[in-house]
Amino acid sequence: MKTYEELYKLISKEIENTDYGKTPKELYESINYTMHLGGKRLRPVLVLMACNLFDEDIHIALNAAHSIEIFHNFTLVHDDIMDNAPLRRGQETVYKKWGMNTAVLSGDLMMIKATEILCKTDHSRIINILSVFNKAATQVCEGQQIDMLFENRHDVNYTEYIEMITLKTSVLLATSLQIGGIIGGAKDEDAEHLYEFGKNIGIAFQIQDDILDSFGDENSTGKKIGGDISSNKKTLLLIELYNSMHKDDKKICDELLIENGDGKINGILTLYKKYQIKEFAEFEKEKFLTLAFFHLTKVNVPNEKKQILISTAHELMNRIS
Ligand code: IPE
Ligand code: IPE
Ligand code: MG
Ligand code: MG
Ligand code: MG
Repeated sequence: MKTYEELYKLISKEIENTDYGKTPKELYESINYTMHLGGKRLRPVLVLMACNLFDEDIHIALNAAHSIEIFHNFTLVHDDIMDNAPLRRGQETVYKKWGMNTAVLSGDLMMIKATEILCKTDHSRIINILSVFNKAATQVCEGQQIDMLFENRHDVNYTEYIEMITLKTSVLLATSLQIGGIIGGAKDEDAEHLYEFGKNIGIAFQIQDDILDSFGDENSTGKKIGGDISSNKKTLLLIELYNSMHKDDKKICDELLIENGDGKINGILTLYKKYQIKEFAEFEKEKFLTLAFFHLTKVNVPNEKKQILISTAHELMNRIS
C-alpha cells in the first residue's frame, strides 16, 4: 500500500504539471495561486487510497483525485468570501488579493475544470461516478447555505449542527473514498461502507476544524484564529457552551456575541475554558472515529490493506493544520 506521503507527491506532481490557463491573467493567476498553495491534499489522497484497496494501479484514479482537489479548492475560495476570512494556508485569500468579482469567477471556473478533468477518467462507470460527484457537490452548497443561515440563529441544536457539517464537509470526504473505490473496482456494498467510513471521519474532521479555529495556532492552521467566533458560527463548541452555562454566564455570553473584535474572541474563549468545551469536542470526535472504523471493518479487503486508512484517520484526529 502506498503511504500518504507517496500519494501526496503523486497528486502534487499532477497539479504542478497542469496548465489551468493563461489569459485573462487575473483569472488564471488566481486559480494557479490557489492550486499551488498546497494544503493537506487529503481528499485526492483518500481517492487514491480507496482505489489502492482494490487495484495496485492507482494511476487510473488520478484524474478523479485531481478533480476532487480542484473542487475542494473552489469551495475554499468561495467559503473565504462567505466567512470574511483574510488568510488561507498562511497567505492572503483570493478575494482579498484580487477582489470579490475575480474570486467568484475564479471559483466558478475551478468548478468547471473539476468536472472537465473528472470526465477524463477512463472507466465503464463514468456516468455513475459523475452522478456521485454531482450529488456531493450539491450537498456542499446546501451545507454552506445552512452554515450561513445558522449565523443568525441562537437555537441551533446538536443534531442540526451534525447535519450541517455532514453536508458542507463530510460528504466530500465520503465521496472521495467512494469514487476511489468504484474506480478500483469495489463492489457497491464495499463502496457504500467506504462512503460511511469517510462520512464519519469527515464529521470528526470538521469538529477538529472547529477546535483549531478557537484553540489552534495561526502559524500551523494558516487561518486567522477566532474567525468562527467573530462571525457567530454555530460550531459544536458554541452549541455545547450554551448547553452548559449557568444563567449569569449566559448573560455575559449573549452580550459578547453582539460585540466585535478581540474582546469578543477572548471572552468566548474564556467561557470555553471554564466549561471545558474543548474536552467535550475531543470526546465527540472519538465517537465518530469509532463509528467510522466500524464501517471500515465491513469493507471486504484484507486487514493489512486497511492499515493506511486507519493510521491516516488517527493522524487527522490530532492534526494541527
Ligand atoms: C478546509 O479543508 C475546509 C474544511 C472542510 C474544514 P482542509 O483542512 O482539508 O484544507 P486544506 O486543503 O488542507 O488547506
Ligand atoms: C468549510 O468550513 C467547508 C467548506 C469549505 C465547504 P469552514 O468555513 O469551517 O472551513 P475553513 O475553516 O474556512 O477552512
Ligand atoms: Mg465556512
Ligand atoms: Mg471558512
Ligand atoms: Mg473552519
